Amino acid sequence: MTERYDVLVIGGGPAGYAAAIRSAQLGFKTACVDDWCSPAGEPALGGTCLNAGCIPSKALLESSEFFVQVRDRGSVRGLKLGQLSLDLAAMMAHKDKTVTELTRGIATLFKANGVTWIPGRGKLLPKNQIEISGSAAKQVEAGEIILASGSMPVNFGNAPFDGQRIVDSQGALAFKEVPRRLGVIGAGIIGLELGSVWCRLGSEVVLIEAQEGFLPVVDEQVAREALKQLTAQGLDIRLGTRVLQSRVANDAVVMRYQDQNGEQEKIVDRLIVAVGRRPNTDGLFAPETGLLIDEWGFVHVDEHCRTNLPNVHAVGDVVRGPMLAHKGMEEGIMVAERIAGQATTVDYAIVPSVIYTQPEIAWVGKTEQALKQAGESYRAGVFPFAANGRAKAMGETSGFIKILADAHTDRVRGVHLIGPHCSELVACAVLAMSFGASSEDIMHTMFAHPTLSEALHEASLAVAGRAVHIAQTRRAKP
Ligand code: NAI
Repeated sequence: MTERYDVLVIGGGPAGYAAAIRSAQLGFKTACVDDWCSPAGEPALGGTCLNAGCIPSKALLESSEFFVQVRDRGSVRGLKLGQLSLDLAAMMAHKDKTVTELTRGIATLFKANGVTWIPGRGKLLPKNQIEISGSAAKQVEAGEIILASGSMPVNFGNAPFDGQRIVDSQGALAFKEVPRRLGVIGAGIIGLELGSVWCRLGSEVVLIEAQEGFLPVVDEQVAREALKQLTAQGLDIRLGTRVLQSRVANDAVVMRYQDQNGEQEKIVDRLIVAVGRRPNTDGLFAPETGLLIDEWGFVHVDEHCRTNLPNVHAVGDVVRGPMLAHKGMEEGIMVAERIAGQATTVDYAIVPSVIYTQPEIAWVGKTEQALKQAGESYRAGVFPFAANGRAKAMGETSGFIKILADAHTDRVRGVHLIGPHCSELVACAVLAMSFGASSEDIMHTMFAHPTLSEALHEASLAVAGRAVHIAQTRRAKP
């Protein structure tokens, strides 16, 4: 008899595992099919995020930043150290241990919630059937199917991956030694995060970016500050530059590229290609299912993540919207709850974004340039970390928080942060915006002193021209 589930999820990354756990919590007989294998060849849950993306990159970002803090700032704080040296293997071991513990944690959660984990590759067939290939090949059926197959790095024809010298983001998390000269194609989120890791550990890093503008998705004032800070750290960011060809020669990579001055050549020891990711739909469904894919290759869905097929849903990186784990998780939970008849929605207007460089960059809502382009009137309040007591005590005074509020209603439209721990601080802004807060609501909220979060409070005061800890233009008495 065919194995049958109420809900079957294809993909065990953040979107898929969250969908599976929530489905099981709601009482559905649930299974999750996933084909990820650890370097040791063991099946592993957690997808790209846990195995080869967010988590290992954050482990290396944290460790490399700790290294820089001790090396460059230790003496200022009164730490007298002997010769500091780097044990890259130990740093990598910490990263690998973090990954293993977290991926095993998902397996434990599956067990605790009664989710059946089916290692293998799932393919959607007509009539709610799913073919599973791999060591436990079989066919199963499910009342509801959730596609959560994620995304994969775009292979760039002018610099094809060879897995050794020319690598994608996953390869760049496993270098055995610090490359002396590192090239990165793409100064986007991945390029900047991984470029930062290796720059901190001693590589000479050059980032080749095709676009003229730096981080166009980010608020322009924040992007300018980020470019200044990252360049000062030693990242050589070359905007408006195109790679024409890269080839491996004599144990190095020869990059030919074009910039404002014509064709150039640069030799690096390793090259990371980070020019974007694409939805992973390869072999995901049989053509006779009639599943609709949009013009960019994403599974077509409505705002509730329903595909064009009844009882088939899709969530996470394989559908439209930012490729962010937290966005996928929220979609996975929404779909499970809607299958259970609940009216859950995802508010796509307040998805936070974070770039884990130093300083960290985070934002939620509209950028100033987007408000301008839309002709919306707004008031801005900016507060620099240089005037925040806690930031000063930490010796991390670069950056600022900016609040953009509607000029008529005062409702917060966007919050943009660059500086220490902004990946955590952005949560306050998301919370405020999810309750439809005005800048005045934030102004009337009490923040603990001395904390970095006071910079958010002061930015809200600055919207009204009444920040306490910076001089603002004096206003007439009311
Ligand atoms: P991205 O879209 O952020 O950046 C790719 C960059 O490569 C762009 O600036 C683009 O202009 C440039 N580029 C494209 N073709 C090029 C060429 N031929 N030559 C030079 N430059 C070229 O994509 P990225 O960094 O690969 O990240 C992929 C996805 O992963 C993003 O959507 C991001 O949201 C997600 N992600 C998020 C993270 C986070 O939340 N912190 C961390 C890592 C990834």
